[in-house]
Amino acid sequence: MQDYHEFLDETLIDAPTLQARIAELGAEISRVYQGQDLHLVCILRGGVLFLTDLMRQISVPHTIDFMAISSYGAGARQSSGQVRLTMDLKDDIHNRNVVLVEDIIDSGHTIASVMELLATRKPASLRICTLLDKAERRETKVPIDFCGFVIPDKFVFGYGLDLDEYYRNLPFIGTVNVEKFQPPE
Ligand code: IMP
Ligand code: MG
Repeated sequence: MQDYHEFLDETLIDAPTLQARIAELGAEISRVYQGQDLHLVCILRGGVLFLTDLMRQISVPHTIDFMAISSYGAGARQSSGQVRLTMDLKDDIHNRNVVLVEDIIDSGHTIASVMELLATRKPASLRICTLLDKAERRETKVPIDFCGFVIPDKFVFGYGLDLDEYYRNLPFIGTVNVEKFQPPE
């Protein structure tokens, strides 16, 4: 795999800016869930770095769980709108205050299907926390309760977000120069 410097177009959000905003989001979530039970549900794999940093900024007691999904019949960069559950939650969410932790909302189809699925399990409340929102790409209405950054319509990577499964480890969000990025064979 290439070194990311070869195709990094620009650093869209640097590490200190990410961490500062995540601290604000953690404080906001702590205020909203003061005195209540809180259950964070991370959508694998992109949301992992965000979850682990966010939970360290949340001062109210809470639990975490994970689920994994994959979208049907679409290219890696395009969401089809239909998702398949590849790994379900470990715990029942009935009567719990659930916050879904997502890396990015693009068309909105992925999170909309997850919301629909989880709503059938009758949580006490169900809210969305996304680090990134590509608002101008939205194709379906999604109620975002906690949002880190609204970003332009550019393909981004780093801080949990991958390019063909790599580069999730980078501590910042970068945009890709698609002419210079060489996908693996
Ligand atoms: P949506 O269903 O169109 O909202 O797509 C959301 C999913 O597409 C995210 O959870 C990501 O996995 C992926 N995705 C969308 N935009 C990007 C991007 O710019 N970089 C990396 N992954 C992305
Ligand atoms: Mg994702």
